[in-house]
Order: sequence, then structure tokens, then C-alpha cells
Amino acid sequence: MIAVDMDAVRLAARKLEAGRLVAFPTETVYGLGGDAGNAVAINAIYAAKGRPANHPVIVHIAPEADISDWASVVPAQAHALTAAFWPGPLTLVLKRAAHISAAVSGGQDSIGLRCPSHPVAQALLREFQGGRGGLAAPSANKFGHVSPTTAAHVREEFGNDAGGLVDYVLDGGQSEVGIESTILDLSRVTTHGAVLLRPGQISIDQIAAVLGVTPMAPDAAAPRASGTLDGHYAPHTPVAQVPAQELPQLMQALADRHCRFAVIHRTVAVPSLSASFAMSHDAGYYAHDLYAALREMDQCGADIILVEALPHMSEWQGINDRLRRAAFDSTGILARLLAA
Ligand code: TXA
Ligand code: MG
Repeated sequence: MIAVDMDAVRLAARKLEAGRLVAFPTETVYGLGGDAGNAVAINAIYAAKGRPANHPVIVHIAPEADISDWASVVPAQAHALTAAFWPGPLTLVLKRAAHISAAVSGGQDSIGLRCPSHPVAQALLREFQGGRGGLAAPSANKFGHVSPTTAAHVREEFGNDAGGLVDYVLDGGQSEVGIESTILDLSRVTTHGAVLLRPGQISIDQIAAVLGVTPMAPDAAAPRASGTLDGHYAPHTPVAQVPAQELPQLMQALADRHCRFAVIHRTVAVPSLSASFAMSHDAGYYAHDLYAALREMDQCGADIILVEALPHMSEWQGINDRLRRAAFDSTGILARLLAA
């Protein structure tokens, strides 16, 4: 059970009502929250993250909230999915209601909505504007960097008070899920069907079981999502995914060349002198630890972080997606290290 400190929640809600930014825990990752009805607060989120202003943010709402206050069209698929998965790590993109600020959607005509299951997030959403408001909250990290899964990670990103950018960090322990929510676009469902914009813990198979049809991959006209950019979710140290059977020889070859490596491994044993993080065989626990592992390995002064490649079943899809993006800008680095 996660204890909810109501004094801290009330303090956070008052700051948010005054237009300030507060980082808060969710079951996926920590969010950098601001009043979704206040364009100044939303712009402050973009500025704090260093994120382009045409990237939409997710609006978080309380369990009692009515999605038709936020969306102009609520298709039957949205009702079925919220009944199955809310509160929880699923974001639905719908047509934005006319009275909702375009700032939350980066000027697009849609809105991303999510009802988190974390008790501190729920308490905050019920306290903020008496439960009638929404909190715009991207992950509480600098643009492109690894998302935070603890309050300490948020402080690593922004400091305790980085020039007043973030007013307060609500602590709710380590995020249970560990990777960001699954994002499903239903804003064009009558013409394009449901489109999976970002995989997460709620798998494409689970969504297909509710909808009776498998979501599509995004086409060129699908809503833009920054979490779908290549080269997102990346630590500062280069990352390379390596098949398990190649990992032992590769570690030996790097050691022979006096390269410093850190290893995130799962089934392969790693020499005891190497910086390493042992991960679970189970996808749920693996996701829970993934960002903490990337952050810890990022602090070892290594030339490269080697990640043992993972299975390809649907429960690994969200994790494989994040690792592929974390490794994206590192293409060719292994070859250069081995050639040196
Ligand atoms: O688990 C999560 O989703 C976390 C926690 C804090 O809730 N939030 C999160 O936010 O990951 P962020 O901003 O880092 O990623 C949100 C993604 C972005 O890729 C954004 O572009 C997309 O959601 N998104 C939000 N609103 C959208 C919209 N109207 N249309 C298309 N994509 C949208
Ligand atoms: Mg993010």
C-alpha cells in the first residue's frame, strides 16, 4: 500500500491552481504537471522540459471525471477501453472539445486523456480544482532523456528547484509499471480504425481482445507523438542491444581493448568486475526496473551500455520499443570501439 500524504497533496494542488508546476508520481513514470486549462502553465512545462511547443501533452483526469468534458466525440471503442483499463496505463487520443485550450495538443485538434491508477495521482486530481480540472503532464524529464520512475530521478533532471522551473515534487515511491502508458489514437476511428501510437504495458493483444480488432500501426497522417520519435528515452552514454549468444565474446573483446562497458543483462552472466544491472526474466518486473537501470548504468563513466536483447512476444513490445529508441543515436559506436 502506498501511503498518501494529504497535506503534501493539498499543498501541490494549491500550487497547481496558482499556475505553478508540480511533479507527481503515476503508476507508469513521474509526470511534470500543470493546469491543463492554463496556457501559461502549459508553456512553462514546455520550457522546463526543453520540448518543442508543437508536441502535445497528455491530460490526466480524476476517476470521476467525464471524458465528454474534454473530448467532442467519444466513440463506443473509448467506452469499452476505459471500462477495461481505466484507471491505468492507457492514454486515449480523441477529438478535442472546442473549449479546451489547443496548447495541450500542440495545436492539433485532438487531446490525449489518461486516468492514472496511482493513489497519490488520484488524490491530487481529486483535490485539484475539486476534481473538475485536468493536469497536463508529460514525463518529468528533459526532452529526449530517460523518464523518471522515482522522485529522486525527477530531482536529477530538474534539481530541487531549478530556477523555479518546478515548484514541488510529490513523492509516491517507485512507479510500479516503469514505462510510459500505451497510447491509442481513436480520433479518426471511423475512417482509420484504432491506431497504436506508443506500445506500453497494456499490450496490443489486450486491446485487440476488447476491440475485437487489432490496432493499426501509425500512417503518415496519424497524430504526432514525441514518444514515437527515434532517439527518445536515451541516456547520455551510448546504448547497444546485443543478442545473448554474442554478449560473452563482445564483453571479452571490449575488455581486451580497455573499453569501459556497463551491462544490463537478463540471462547471461557478467564478469564480477563490470558495472552491471541484473534484470528480471519477467516482462513486468523488467519494465519496472528499466529506467532505473539505464540511469544507474549511465553514471558509471562507461564508453557504452550493452543491453542483452530481449524476446519479441507482445508483453515485451513496449520495452523493446524504448530500448530501440534509447539505442537509436548510438548506431555504429560498437564498430568504432572494436576498431580502435
Ligand atoms: O505514462 C505516461 O503516459 C506518462 C505519465 C506521466 O502519464 N506521460 C508521458 O507523457 O509519457 P509524454 O508527454 O512524455 O508522452 C506523451 C505522449 C507524447 O508522445 C505525445 O506526443 C502524445 O503522448 N500525445 C499526447 N497528446 C496527444 C495528442 N493529442 N495526439 C497525439 N499524441 C498525443
Ligand atoms: Mg516523455
